[in-house]
Amino acid sequence: MSNGADTAAAGTGTAAGSAAGTAAGTAAGAAAPPCLEVENIEVVYNDVVLVLQGVSLTVPRGSIVALLGANGAGKSTTLKAVSGLLATEDGAVTRGAIRLDGDAITSLPPDRIVARGVFQVMEGRRIIEDMTVTENLRMGGYSRPRDPGADEYDMVYGYFPRLKERRGLAGYLSGGEQQMLAIGRALMARPKLILLDEPSMGLSPLLVDEVFEIIARINREQGISILLVEQNSRMALKVARSGYIMENGKVVLEGTSDELRDNEDVREFYLGQGDAERSFRNLKSYRRRKRWL
Ligand SMILES: Nc1ncnc2c1ncn2[C@@H]1O[C@H](COP(=O)(O)OP(=O)(O)O)[C@@H](O)[C@H]1O
Ligand SMILES: [Mg+2]
Repeated sequence: MSNGADTAAAGTGTAAGSAAGTAAGTAAGAAAPPCLEVENIEVVYNDVVLVLQGVSLTVPRGSIVALLGANGAGKSTTLKAVSGLLATEDGAVTRGAIRLDGDAITSLPPDRIVARGVFQVMEGRRIIEDMTVTENLRMGGYSRPRDPGADEYDMVYGYFPRLKERRGLAGYLSGGEQQMLAIGRALMARPKLILLDEPSMGLSPLLVDEVFEIIARINREQGISILLVEQNSRMALKVARSGYIMENGKVVLEGTSDELRDNEDVREFYLGQGDAERSFRNLKSYRRRKRWL
């Protein structure tokens, strides 16, 4: 069994799924399926490089779920597996299944997945620099069955009022504004699930607070489910209800945000607490860490 979360010391088991308290539980029969289920997927790049080795996670409908882990753990790859963008990087899901509202979407082309309401906001804010804000937003709306109307622009400018004042090319926006535009562009498509890859990257602490506050509002007010990849674990666990921690292509721990925040390993490795007596602690942690895997 490659999913270490089952044996995690915290003993949280399937807490990430059930603790969210939505109707999307596991009761037999009538219960609605969760928004997103990733079941034991394996991902290979260029036919040879095995990057994900049995990743499973659940995003209950209407919730924010955090996907945490160090650089290179496989977080972005997991998002691209869901959105279908793996194909553009010569990657493929070679095992397992991905379901949206209970329907398999594994390896569908990206445009079909977008059409079903899944929108990925890529790491590094991939806005189009030589287009204006409005033109960038219009691009997001293209994936909708009908063209975006005033309602969509109003909604986006409601969340990001400062974008409305920016008349020039998007390339001249500040880093924070570009991140807002990238999220706004996703909103234009009125998605049911947003895959958000490191929204805090390169932003000042003040802006990080602002962006996360808006992410929480979007989830609450629009009912959009969010799978949130972050290196800023502290912020992510503030807005998320539950989370998963990845290492080396596997999920090693899962739980509610409270459970993860209280976990000693998480505190030490991901929340930057416990710096004293480094070498001794490293040794202890290493031993403890081995138990996760
Ligand atoms: N297009 C690619 N081709 C080959 N290997 C890749 C590609 N993209 C990512 N990888 C490798 O997959 C692993 C996971 O990367 P990634 O999913 O980007 O991690 P994270 O987002 O957690 O930092 C890394 O070892 C990375 O080098
Ligand atoms: Mg990444």
